Amino acid sequence: MEKYQDSRDSGQGQSVSTTIFVASYEDVIVARQKVRELMNEMKFSLLDQTRVVTAVSELSRNIIVHAGKGEMTIIKYDESGRRGFRCIFEDKGPGIADIDLAMREGYSTTNSLGLGLSGSKKLCKNFSIQSTRGKGTRIEIAEWK
Ligand SMILES: Nc1ncnc2c1ncn2[C@@H]1O[C@H](COP(=O)(O)OP(=O)(O)OP(=O)(O)O)[C@@H](O)[C@H]1O
Ligand SMILES: [Mg+2]
Repeated sequence: MEKYQDSRDSGQGQSVSTTIFVASYEDVIVARQKVRELMNEMKFSLLDQTRVVTAVSELSRNIIVHAGKGEMTIIKYDESGRRGFRCIFEDKGPGIADIDLAMREGYSTTNSLGLGLSGSKKLCKNFSIQSTRGKGTRIEIAEWK
C-alpha cells in the first residue's frame, strides 16, 4: 500500500504537502525521517531539527497510543519572504474531554509520564490543539525561519 501522498500546488504562495499514515511505530520513524529531511533541506540547524523531531515523535506516538491510527501532514510554505512548514497530526480517535488538563505536565490517562503534549508545546514555535470528544484530535505545529 502507498504510504505517502504528495501533492504540489503551483498557485500563489508555493506549498508542498506530504501525508504520512500513522498506525505503527515504524510509521513514527518515517514521520521523524520526513521532518528531519525537510528541515535539513531547508537548512534548519541540527538543534532545531532535534527539537522539532522530538515533538513529532511524541505527537505521532500519541496518535498510536490514544487513537490507534491517524495521519501527519507536512505542509511546506514559502510566502513573501517567509519560509517554513507546518505539521498537522490528525486522528478520528476518542478525542480529549479536557484539553487544559491534558496539556498539564504529568497528566496521563495511560499511567505514562504525561509529558508528550506539554513538552511538544514547549519545543515548538507554534502549537495549537483542537479536540472533540468522540470525534478526534487535530494538533498543528509550525516552524519558520
Ligand atoms: N491523539 C490523542 N487522542 C486522544 N487523547 C489524547 C491524544 N493525545 C493525547 N491524549 C490525551 O492527553 C493525555 C496527555 O498526553 P501526553 O502525551 O502529554 O501524555 P501520555 O501520552 O499519557 O504520556 P507520555 O506521552 O508522556 O508517554 C493522554 O494521556 C491522553 O489522555
Ligand atoms: Mg504521549
